[in-house]
Amino acid sequence: MSPGNPSGRRPAHPPETAHGLLDAAFGRPRGPAGTVGGAVMARLNGSQERWAVDRAALCPGERVLVVGPGPGVGLPAAVAAVQPGGRVIAVDPSATMRRAAIRRCAAQIAAGTLEVRDGAAERTGCADATVDAVLSVNNVMLWDRPAGFRELLRVLRPGGRMVLTVHRHVLGIRPERLVTEATGAGFGGVELTLRERRVLGPAVQMLLHHPGN
Ligand SMILES: C[S@@+](CC[C@H](N)C(=O)[O-])C[C@H]1O[C@@H](n2cnc3c(N)ncnc32)[C@H](O)[C@@H]1O
Repeated sequence: MSPGNPSGRRPAHPPETAHGLLDAAFGRPRGPAGTVGGAVMARLNGSQERWAVDRAALCPGERVLVVGPGPGVGLPAAVAAVQPGGRVIAVDPSATMRRAAIRRCAAQIAAGTLEVRDGAAERTGCADATVDAVLSVNNVMLWDRPAGFRELLRVLRPGGRMVLTVHRHVLGIRPERLVTEATGAGFGGVELTLRERRVLGPAVQMLLHHPGN
């Protein structure tokens, strides 16, 4: 956080710069660029989203928090994995992405098994220790990471787990630093792997645990 940025949230870049255009398409999706970015993400990142659901080994009845789902391609699989009796909450700060996810997942929302709402890794709106698993795909580079890791640990139940994956080329830091930051926030049992892929390059993959029993 800085005196010029009291909320601690990253300022949006002006959309007329190249950096701003990428930010408007993929970082903080908004406007026409955000709509196009959402369609690109839905096409390219579906398998990574589904990998996160599989790796979390979700069980019927569990309560899952998905941070930064973007257009929501992974949400139906997460919802299906926790039925019967489970529920998924998805938080994303982009209204453009929330609209896309709500359109894509209208049936799950109508059934009461999914809620899509405003939020972020640093402000989930969940109560302490109420979540069995957290999923994060391609958004950790956008967080205020110390605050995000602390918040996600707070909402996980003791022994709960988090699965995080991100394209290596967008991460912007060495993957090992994520391990240092997560353990610094209190996570335990952190595993880090790199999965090679032909088209998108390596994916950073992490499994992290709340250290409680
Ligand atoms: C590159 S997109 C990834 C979307 C989707 N998970 C995927 O892999 O296709 C990044 C998403 O993270 C969201 N986001 C931005 N800042 C965030 C934060 N601090 N916490 C959680 N999500 C954030 C953006 O609004 C956007 O929907």
